[in-house]
Amino acid sequence: IPVSSFDLVIFGATGDLAQRKILPGLFRRFSVGQMPRDARIIATARSEIDTDMFRADLRTSLAEFAPCISGDAEMLDQFLATIVYIHLDVMSQEGWSELVGLLRRSAVRAFYLSVSTSLFGTIASRLSSYEAVTPESRIVVEKPFGNDLAIARALNADLRQGFEESQIYRIDHYLGKETVQNLMALRFANALWEPLWNSTHIDHVQITVAESLGVEGRGEYYNRAGAMRDMVQNHLMQLLCLTAMEPPSRFEPNAVRDEKVKVIEALAPANPQEIVRGQYRDKEGQGSYREHAGDPTSRTESFVAMKVAIANWRWAGTPFYLRTGKRLRARTSEIAVVFREPPHMIFPEMENRRSNQMIIHLQPDEGITLHNTIKEPGPGGFRLAEVTLDMTFANALGGQTDSQDAYERLIMDVIRGDQTLFMRGDEVEAAWAWVDPIIARWEEARHAPEPYDAGGSGPEEALMLMHRDGWRWREIG
Ligand code: BG6
Repeated sequence: IPVSSFDLVIFGATGDLAQRKILPGLFRRFSVGQMPRDARIIATARSEIDTDMFRADLRTSLAEFAPCISGDAEMLDQFLATIVYIHLDVMSQEGWSELVGLLRRSAVRAFYLSVSTSLFGTIASRLSSYEAVTPESRIVVEKPFGNDLAIARALNADLRQGFEESQIYRIDHYLGKETVQNLMALRFANALWEPLWNSTHIDHVQITVAESLGVEGRGEYYNRAGAMRDMVQNHLMQLLCLTAMEPPSRFEPNAVRDEKVKVIEALAPANPQEIVRGQYRDKEGQGSYREHAGDPTSRTESFVAMKVAIANWRWAGTPFYLRTGKRLRARTSEIAVVFREPPHMIFPEMENRRSNQMIIHLQPDEGITLHNTIKEPGPGGFRLAEVTLDMTFANALGGQTDSQDAYERLIMDVIRGDQTLFMRGDEVEAAWAWVDPIIARWEEARHAPEPYDAGGSGPEEALMLMHRDGWRWREIG
């Protein structure tokens, strides 16, 4: 569905995110006709280059990050023609009048801040003082949204200098992933699951976001953040919220976000005995976290596993286990909903625990599988076996899914003015309020992370966390 005409201003347009994700994503939307032909992209950055130079550099980026379509020379030229570049150092007054002069009254205005969070306040107030903010304007920001609650509050205040909450789009790219949205469809468009979606029927939930990559040149940022700030406070928290939230009364931004905030506010304070921090060490020449982060004494965690309780009627008695880490065996992200065992077992051979599981696979393959126990076919006796019902989208929909990158979807939602998949200010603050005491305790105790082998499944202590409750983590990969 094409969106309305827009002027999208990208601050930090020469940066990594803009070149790898934002602009290639826009090019893909352009190539399928979703971006109106009169839409314009106004790229700004501190580099003293002109529009022709910017376009030439972008050609190279698009060849790498949108390879399937960049071979279509005519399309590529048409896309590049929508882009102008303005040299702008946000700290100085220069360039702002030129920028604002380019903006059309009739089009949606979106200001995408792909810059350090320390510049949010300056940009928001400059846009406001140059009268660039119309009712049809939106501002888009990226994570990290602060480093703790105090900073997140200050950033919210900065953004509100020029924009209403209804104009602020805080991106968590996990919310743009196809399966994450499908989780909402699964839960709220089917009558089958919702009656089972509670502690009476669900034993526990395992949320895993495992990465095989290490810190990949982002050591400086990551070493200050660690897995808790980098992944748990945002991506895992969002997955937890969507899994646990009450059905919203409408599929509308505030109705959905109200329910998510309630989940975060219902989280019991984390028990320090039920949190495992890890840091990868070298195994067979893969390198260690400390080498990759360039800090030989770093105590930053590259892995977190924890048991989380949601203190409300629906979930009392059903723990949520969260796990994320870098340099693990494989890249696997999934939500495993593990149902309770049958109350009375009539088959003697059921020595192993068998319970139904629904696995919501986020990556590498997207889809949903349902694990059931059946009788093994054949006359050789009554044996039980597990079968998996596969609802993988590519199979179920005949390979017709449009696996557009999360950023593409989110940028189009910004233009449409749909905030459903963006974090509201209070949601981000609530997540920090829950995470901050955990980090403070680690810092106070100068807590050293547990080592784990690069390419493994995480520290032994993380396995124990689940073993103590009589369960095991699902295999990574
Ligand atoms: C980012 C984190 O937000 O998400 C990275 O800063 C992480 O450290 C990335 O690698 C994971 O995203 P995805 O989409 O590859 O799972």
